[in-house]
Amino acid sequence: MHPFRYERPATLDEAIALLERHGGDARLLAGGTDLIIGLRDRSESARVVVDVKHVAELRPGIAERDGVLAIAATTVMTDIAANARVGDRFVALAEAAAVVGSVQIRNRATLGGNICNASPAADTATPLLVYGAVVVVAGRGGVRRIPIDEFFVGPGATTLLRGEIVTAVELPLAGGRVGAAHLRRTRRRGHDLASVTLSSAVDGRGVVRIAYGSVGPRPVLAIDESGVLADPSSSDDARAARLERMLSAASPSPRSMRASPEYRLAMLRVLAARAVARAAERLVEQSRASTAAPPRRVTSAAGPAPADAVAPAAGPAPAARPRTLPAEAATPSSTDADDDSPVAIAMVVNGRERRLEVPAHRTLLEALRDDLGLTGAKECCLVGECGACTVIVDGRTVDACLVLTVEADGADVRTVEGLAEGGRLSRLQEAFLEKGAAQCGYCIPGQLMSARSLLDLDPRPTLAAVQEALAGNLCRCGGYRQIEEAILSVADEDAR
Ligand SMILES: Cc1cc2nc3c(=O)[nH]c(=O)nc-3n(C[C@H](O)[C@H](O)[C@H](O)COP(=O)(O)OP(=O)(O)OC[C@H]3O[C@@H](n4cnc5c(N)ncnc54)[C@H](O)[C@@H]3O)c2cc1C
Ligand code: FES
Ligand code: FES
Repeated sequence: MHPFRYERPATLDEAIALLERHGGDARLLAGGTDLIIGLRDRSESARVVVDVKHVAELRPGIAERDGVLAIAATTVMTDIAANARVGDRFVALAEAAAVVGSVQIRNRATLGGNICNASPAADTATPLLVYGAVVVVAGRGGVRRIPIDEFFVGPGATTLLRGEIVTAVELPLAGGRVGAAHLRRTRRRGHDLASVTLSSAVDGRGVVRIAYGSVGPRPVLAIDESGVLADPSSSDDARAARLERMLSAASPSPRSMRASPEYRLAMLRVLAARAVARAAERLVEQSRASTAAPPRRVTSAAGPAPADAVAPAAGPAPAARPRTLPAEAATPSSTDADDDSPVAIAMVVNGRERRLEVPAHRTLLEALRDDLGLTGAKECCLVGECGACTVIVDGRTVDACLVLTVEADGADVRTVEGLAEGGRLSRLQEAFLEKGAAQCGYCIPGQLMSARSLLDLDPRPTLAAVQEALAGNLCRCGGYRQIEEAILSVADEDAR
């Protein structure tokens, strides 16, 4: 990675001022799952990286205010997927957040980063479109609210102006019942973006909204107000014709490496039909639950319920970030040179305080392996796909190749070297040996850390939960079955 200057502003005004001052040379850093890859492959050429994770007004969180559910831009997918209010009112967004990458990616990837990266395949873009979300943006001129349908311009391009920062995304709570669903096709779960990503919402008046991505330069929203799609008595032909019209803006690129245009268009139709059916079913379930009337055809054109107006620029309620070091371990808020001058940081690694001076572009993986001699975490793909570098930071697994060491300042870091206790392998490690889970062994430290984190959070996981937890850990030897058995055997023993 080329050298850059690292800035860690404490307020929104400071962050905006930094972006204004450095213009095209500055990049905002949230979870880094897109940015760090870009900095490494030099598709991003930032000279200044502005980390927003310590900005007071941008603390992650999800809160109701003034008729909207406001999700702070820095909220990560793991927390969005698990949030009860999102699951209850905006299930398609919860479903989308739950399928972004792997556990390691979801623990870092933020909602703001997902929409600002503006990939046509961004999973959260389509549910935000069907729910009529509003993007809250802060800049030198104050706060403005951009309807999400006016936010995306094309691959990597949005209507954000220079120096503007997305502070939150607001979802309107007003309006009646809505059934919704998010579906996608991908080549490999946990590692690849979607070949097609699609959300649908059906409201009590029979209005159907479909948003689809990865089939054109930007995600598209289509609205059908005829009521035909939501009416169980409609003929298949009538429904197919309506859907075809809604999907007519799809224009997949013939140059994409993921799938041919023909495949994408065929899958788009399949997913659209399924998502509308699922959304309509959910609406009916809600109707039964509330003994309200079932969906019926509308006779007049009516759009979605508008977002309630004005909320402050500040993000929703803060979520506490565990700190494990005393206050004096805190480091300066930025490097003071436009180069790789070392930055002093302190973190707790496997229970021991470690102080380092590292250049801002040094990844946590490099610091662990090369500076601290902890070579358990392995270097392999360096793009967050293989999980060989998995470590646990502040209780959550991350790909250490996608975290800057400066971001781990003040953090609690666990590596595979910290699993053994008193010179003895942990029970989990022994189980890996007993079940023959380790073959060449290259992936095993990462697998162990994903397993450890899963068991910490869910001591009796199902096989499906184990497979989901390991979706971000590739084993080139293909020993998945033995790895799963080892983890489940430890869970069984604990349960006895
Ligand atoms: C292995 C892997 C699998 C992935 N799978 C998926 C997937 O299945 N679905 C999917 O949608 N994505 C996927 N991604 C992409 C990525 O994880 C998401 O786009 C993620 O949400 C980006 O968020 P971030 O916080 O990491 O953004 P960052 O990398 O920190 O930032 C991304 C961009 O947005 C800008 N930015 C960030 N926050 C703000 C803000 N508040 N205001 C203004 N600009 C901002 C940054 O400057 C940068 O240009 C995957 C990535 C990897 C590496
Ligand atoms: S995910 Fe980090 S090296 Fe592959
Ligand atoms: S044991 Fe060889 S890569 Fe997994």
